Amino acid sequence: MKELTIFSPATVANVSCGFDALGFALESVGDTMRFCLSDTSGIRITKIEGAELSYDINENVVGVVAQAMLRDFPKTVGIDIEVYKNFKPGSGLGSSAASASGTAFAVNELLGKPFSMLEMTKYAMLGEEAACGSQIADNVSAALYGGFILVRSYDPLDIVKLPVPSELYAAVIHPQIEIKTKDARDVLNTHVSLKDATTQWANVGGLISGLYSNNYELISNSLQDVIVEPLRKQLIPHFDAVKEAAIADGALGAGISGSGPTIFALCKGLATAKKVAQAMHEVYQNTAIDFEIHVSKINTKGIKILNQ
Ligand code: HSE
Repeated sequence: MKELTIFSPATVANVSCGFDALGFALESVGDTMRFCLSDTSGIRITKIEGAELSYDINENVVGVVAQAMLRDFPKTVGIDIEVYKNFKPGSGLGSSAASASGTAFAVNELLGKPFSMLEMTKYAMLGEEAACGSQIADNVSAALYGGFILVRSYDPLDIVKLPVPSELYAAVIHPQIEIKTKDARDVLNTHVSLKDATTQWANVGGLISGLYSNNYELISNSLQDVIVEPLRKQLIPHFDAVKEAAIADGALGAGISGSGPTIFALCKGLATAKKVAQAMHEVYQNTAIDFEIHVSKINTKGIKILNQ
């Protein structure tokens, strides 16, 4: 294989109760990236469309991830990379993760698949570190593995792929303001009360049990976050109004997508997801903030090869 084009999905991290531990991939939102083997050794980013990002391979997560992989590969290789961003950095939809995991996946393909999924995840986490200062795994593993994932452990890294009930859809609203993940992490407390911790891990267990048993009521009851959302929601205009409107119109639950500002709602069925998207639209349409709305099935495949 000399070249390939991939789709790398947007992802929703945390999923309310699972800060840094849960995530899922979207079907209808994501970036396209093209990778070509070159006779000239080294990594080059030759085109970026859709966002103002650095072409410097030591700054752009694409370059950081690809260089790390080539350092561990026994032969000298050259790769040219084109990046087509379809959603903005700082959205809470895993923009850096789409770039980082897309690079890990595609470079692995071009090299003849020398690396495992877990190794690709670790390379992609280096991109997350370059983007926000922390090696977070929830977005990158959701993009690479597809569907819902649980980061069961960071050290050693252990990713569990979870089942996706067939009628599960997401509606997401992306207010066009930027929240840097680092800033959204800085507002968090480093200690939580035992009472809140108990509520949180019980809900993580409930959500995972609901995914395994197709129990939408249990999923709905478990989409609660008593630790992160109360602190971060103040960064997101009209968060409470959007969440209330989404649930009133039938969403199973709603919360902050990753570090925000995107707000996600999980819904049973496409018709409900469209209705919930409309309810979110109505909250934001009378504000001064531009926004984008997407309705998506959960993407169970993760990164896809478009052509090669
Ligand atoms: N789990 C991360 C956070 C996702 O909420 O900060 C952002 O990349």
